[in-house]
Amino acid sequence: MGTEKPVWNNETARKIVKEKAALPGALLPVLHDLQTHFGYIRPNFVPEIAKALNLSRADVHGVISFYHDFRDKAPTGRIVKICRAEACQSMGVDRLEDHIKGESSITLEPVYCLGNCACAPAVMVDGKTYGRVTSERLEELLS
Ligand code: FES
Repeated sequence: MGTEKPVWNNETARKIVKEKAALPGALLPVLHDLQTHFGYIRPNFVPEIAKALNLSRADVHGVISFYHDFRDKAPTGRIVKICRAEACQSMGVDRLEDHIKGESSITLEPVYCLGNCACAPAVMVDGKTYGRVTSERLEELLS
């Protein structure tokens, strides 16, 4: 669930880039589309993106590393997004992160507000949001 993406394929990636290349500010839409399709943006495809959009490689790398949502590796296992924003921080969300950090079967991603602040701390597991999550509940969700 959530992680079953096609393996990276340069032909398909080129088509995706071409579809959006003419847009003003095409880089973000292109990166989003690549990540939506493959689940990540392959680092050795960055020069092609840069060339197609007339940007430097550093520009493209900079944007990929600036936005936490972009990945440069294929995600493994379940995708868990833990909210790092204020309401969830104040409800001890750090404990949840400490609890599952280092689990190889999980791709852990920070997110800044899941729109579920009233039920902090909030996490998203495989695209579904849960509120008032305790360490025990998180284990249950992942089992
Ligand atoms: S602050 Fe965590 S869901 Fe809004």
